[in-house]
Amino acid sequence: MKTIVLAARKGGVGKTTLTANLAVLASGYKGPDSEIEDLEVAILTQDPQKGIDMWWNVREKHWPHFIKLNTNLVPVTMLRMLRDKGMKYTFIDTPPGYTRVVESAMRLADLVVIPVQPSMADLWAAFDTVDAAKRIGVDYVLVINKASPGTSIAKEAAEELSQSNHYLWPPVFQRVGNAAAFGRGLATVEHSPFSAASEELFQLWIAVHARLHGKRILGHPRGSVWKGPFTVAEWKRSFTHDG
Ligand SMILES: Nc1ncnc2c1ncn2[C@@H]1O[C@H](COP(=O)(O)OP(=O)(O)OP(=O)(O)O)[C@@H](O)[C@H]1O
Ligand SMILES: [Mg+2]
Repeated sequence: MKTIVLAARKGGVGKTTLTANLAVLASGYKGPDSEIEDLEVAILTQDPQKGIDMWWNVREKHWPHFIKLNTNLVPVTMLRMLRDKGMKYTFIDTPPGYTRVVESAMRLADLVVIPVQPSMADLWAAFDTVDAAKRIGVDYVLVINKASPGTSIAKEAAEELSQSNHYLWPPVFQRVGNAAAFGRGLATVEHSPFSAASEELFQLWIAVHARLHGKRILGHPRGSVWKGPFTVAEWKRSFTHDG
């Protein structure tokens, strides 16, 4: 079982949104007509703000598994139990800040995903979490989230990070579809499968998956040169090709 922890000292950067989306994609979601109900993915949350609890409550599907932790520490025994039950992936959504609770989750992770909004101030704030991951000795990746389409600041942030092998492409843009899907208890790919937002999140899952399994993505689908956000047309083309 692979454990993925979403963590960031800053609030509101997308930990919960990305947890929900990645967990659905990890379940093998293949498109609107697929019947996939993969029960081998779990979401654990320790966030008292109830963001992902609400998502789960309005979700009319019984997967991924959802577990709210009552204690303020991630019990190792809970992860062991999930592993014994045959879970392939467990995602842990953490509250903002770098607390004992977050550290305990990071210590149990195979990968820490750190969402960061594309500005220098946000990047600097993320370095606290990066330092913590380094200290603990756990693999980590920075993911740009909530980038505004058409702004140069997203481009600059992506370029700033692109030299690091801890930066995961692609950036995820600020798109209303993501917030709308979340409010309906859905992942974006379930809510608007043929959208650029879905494509970004799908590519992000491919990148996280590759990272977890020690694979390299040989060249990005659109080449390694920055070309701005995906268009819906591009997403449709890639969906058609990939089936
Ligand atoms: N890529 C995106 N596009 C559009 N809206 C987004 C995106 N990512 C996050 N949001 C919105 O930003 C807000 C904060 O996101 P989210 O709750 O996922 O962040 P968080 O890091 O979990 O916050 P907290 O630290 O409070 O737990 C929410 O309203 C969410 O819908
Ligand atoms: Mg949250």
